[in-house]
Amino acid sequence: MTLLFLPIDIQVKNISFKRTDNLKKVPAQIFQPAWWDSAILDSASLNYFSDIIQQLPYDKISIVMHKFQNGPVGSHLDVYPNMKIDPMELANINDNEPCGYRLVLNGKDDVLEIFDGVNWLTPKLPSVPCCYLINSTRLRHRVKDDPGREVLYFRGIINKDRNQELIEKSLKVYKDHAVYSK
Ligand SMILES: [Fe+2]
Repeated sequence: MTLLFLPIDIQVKNISFKRTDNLKKVPAQIFQPAWWDSAILDSASLNYFSDIIQQLPYDKISIVMHKFQNGPVGSHLDVYPNMKIDPMELANINDNEPCGYRLVLNGKDDVLEIFDGVNWLTPKLPSVPCCYLINSTRLRHRVKDDPGREVLYFRGIINKDRNQELIEKSLKVYKDHAVYSK
């Protein structure tokens, strides 16, 4: 069985992040343009989220995207071999799955839908805001329309030991929310 989805037990509180126009918008051809209005966090914005980033198991962050949902998000994988990604980073992700960390800043707790290999399921987040983990290379997922949904997407070089520790810690709290492949 492969772990596909798990809420993550980190401290997330008092977030009042406001996107500014000086953040670089993600070009339309690169990242799911129809579904999300995405911008890449700059160093000042990364600094705003440093308390959260420090709790995540990255040796190096390569990108954090701030995303507003435009409408229903169709079925997709977040990371796939022929996307624009450093081959070393892709290998690191493949070595450490599940390792796709996402943070729902605003939105509903029951609009993410995930495919376990047989059925589409609707995992429930324990709260919002909430960090969760998905298998970014294997978990096919989609999101129901959730106007105003606001998410952070993290990617980078994963520290294997810290990733395992955070998963084990989170499983103790959220094992009933965990979803595995069939
Ligand atoms: Fe996704």
